[in-house]
Amino acid sequence: MYKRTLITSALPYANGPVHIGHLAGVYVPADIFARYLRLKNEDVIFIGGSDEHGVPITIRAEKEGVTPQDVVDKYHHIIKESFRRFGISFDIYSRTTAPEHHRTASEFFRTLYDKGVFVEKTAEQYYDEQNGRFLADRYIVGTCPKCGFDQAYGDQCEKCGTSLSPTELINPRSKLSGATPVMKPTKHWYLPLEKYENWLKQWILEEHKEWKTNVYGQCKSWLDNGLQPRAVTRDLDWGIPVPVDGADGKVLYVWFDAPIGYISATKELTPDWEKYWKDPDCRMVHFIGKDNIVFHCIIFPVMLKAEGTYILPDNVPANEFLNLEGDKISTSHNWAIWLHEYLEEFPGKEDVLKYVLTANAPETKDNDFTWKDFQARNNNELVAILGNFVNRALVLTHKYYDGITPEPQQLTDIDRNTLQEIAVLKGEVERSIDSYRFREALKSAMDMARLGNKYLADEEPWKVIKTDPARVQTVLYVSLQIVGNLTVIIEPFLPFSMEKLRRMINLEKQEWTTIGSILLPAGHRLNQPELLFEKIEDDVIERQISKLKATKADNTAAPDVAPAKAPVSFDDFDRLDIRVGTIVAAEAVPKTDKLLKLTVDTGLDRRTVVSGIAKWHSPDAIVGKQVALLVNLEPRKLRGIESQGMLLMAEDASGALRFVIPDTAVTNGATVK
Ligand code: MF3
Ligand code: ZN
Repeated sequence: MYKRTLITSALPYANGPVHIGHLAGVYVPADIFARYLRLKNEDVIFIGGSDEHGVPITIRAEKEGVTPQDVVDKYHHIIKESFRRFGISFDIYSRTTAPEHHRTASEFFRTLYDKGVFVEKTAEQYYDEQNGRFLADRYIVGTCPKCGFDQAYGDQCEKCGTSLSPTELINPRSKLSGATPVMKPTKHWYLPLEKYENWLKQWILEEHKEWKTNVYGQCKSWLDNGLQPRAVTRDLDWGIPVPVDGADGKVLYVWFDAPIGYISATKELTPDWEKYWKDPDCRMVHFIGKDNIVFHCIIFPVMLKAEGTYILPDNVPANEFLNLEGDKISTSHNWAIWLHEYLEEFPGKEDVLKYVLTANAPETKDNDFTWKDFQARNNNELVAILGNFVNRALVLTHKYYDGITPEPQQLTDIDRNTLQEIAVLKGEVERSIDSYRFREALKSAMDMARLGNKYLADEEPWKVIKTDPARVQTVLYVSLQIVGNLTVIIEPFLPFSMEKLRRMINLEKQEWTTIGSILLPAGHRLNQPELLFEKIEDDVIERQISKLKATKADNTAAPDVAPAKAPVSFDDFDRLDIRVGTIVAAEAVPKTDKLLKLTVDTGLDRRTVVSGIAKWHSPDAIVGKQVALLVNLEPRKLRGIESQGMLLMAEDASGALRFVIPDTAVTNGATVK
């Protein structure tokens, strides 16, 4: 058993505002967890802060033509304010440019250095000769060796999520100048992760089988693939200077310093910080998104273990990603719902967003946020279930009993079972939250409102009042207990709304243990009821949807001419086998309006090619035409038809596809080079 809980939430990069993906993946679940433990009177602290070093910051600064410090100052405040207004209840929200953090991270590095933990190594790294800079992490882009995405970064491919090192990129280019970088030697300090492999296998794969499947699975795959030494320093001028001699111009790798930010923030919070970091009676829980798993489950634990005096995480309930209307949320494509904008456009509806993000949390798989779902959950759940029950119970009490809890009469079995169900739901919510299943927990908490609705619908006090008024006293007494208990069980999820509800029923904030007890005894005086939630109309949702459509249109408006691609070698080009062939037959592929099935005489053979040109070419009109065809493309199946090659087509900004044809007829099989 633990005596204390240290909750950390990933430090967002201060290179832009935060969006619903951040909230859903990290801060909402962390906040629910923190509020729940506080209601249970546990010793808990909840740590947050901005991640202000690293290449994402300097790239932003270069783009905006300001200093990195300007960038982080601006976004740190925007982010902090968004979190505050959403009621994310950090005990401290700090930042990694804070002096305490520089000191702490520097000392941490120095301790490992003095213990001889690091391996010092001079190795060749990519260097941009035009800018005179080494190209770390996101300063270098190229083609992903795993998925072929041509804008993968030196540390990660954002398309397929693979974590990369710059030398793995195909066709690397400098993000600074676009130039092809050269290799140049440079000295760095490496954390020898491979030496900790056995220990990690034991600690994670054996001792933490209870971790979420997605987290455990990622760790296992890293460990199965074998760990490599990781450089923890960089040649950059923004960051924490490497605190050893002979390290001029070098800073700590952002992923080395950032998680130490959790420690520095705790130090800023309390002089008693060690009881959260160094006492095995404390359990540490990291709330993060899935792209942070390796850092929190492997690298940071190795750092802590190597240091030797710190505890390790007890759990890392990482979430998957939240998409927006079917597409990946992207800061650079402005494909997001920004929290600061939501706050302006939906004032007073902070809880609604938190509700939707929890009810639809990407806990086990990527999920999709849609405005229609947002509207439906607000109208059909918050308004129709929770708001409606509370409103009926309160309005009837005011109508029949002047807003005072009536004296109950003899309780029936139904009454008793209904009251007992409250304690059952409490147990369900506890079990779910204790195992980091927040959407399930929310569902059980909402079941208490469903219970109330069912009870009212079955007992029909508005009818019974005419025949048996004494019975109605009991029915409203029981209903009011459900209302009182709702303010406690739903508090971790919807704190603003429950505060409002407590005001309406004139109840102080209660502890978690009171769930199941009589909170509004006979004679208790209520205040005036108000509406807890309001319906969201179609036009409000339509406005949001059009806003996203406009963003999409901006994003897809093709430039008149596509940008140049990175250079390739002649050898690369020469591997393509392009021939002139003649289309000898063509027909539409059934059930698509895009595809034609062509038979092409390539000079080598007659083969089937499926091509997406139906919009611009009718089958009859193209038989007999000569075309250029890539004949050694690996065959692939389209609509069940194997396509053995690809037509080369010219495409302009309109997207129309036109044949690339020899100026006079040539023999089929002629090569194109
Ligand atoms: N800034 C990182 C990100 O947004 C998260 C850092 S978490 C910390 O992905 F542990 F390093 F702080
Ligand atoms: Zn990739």
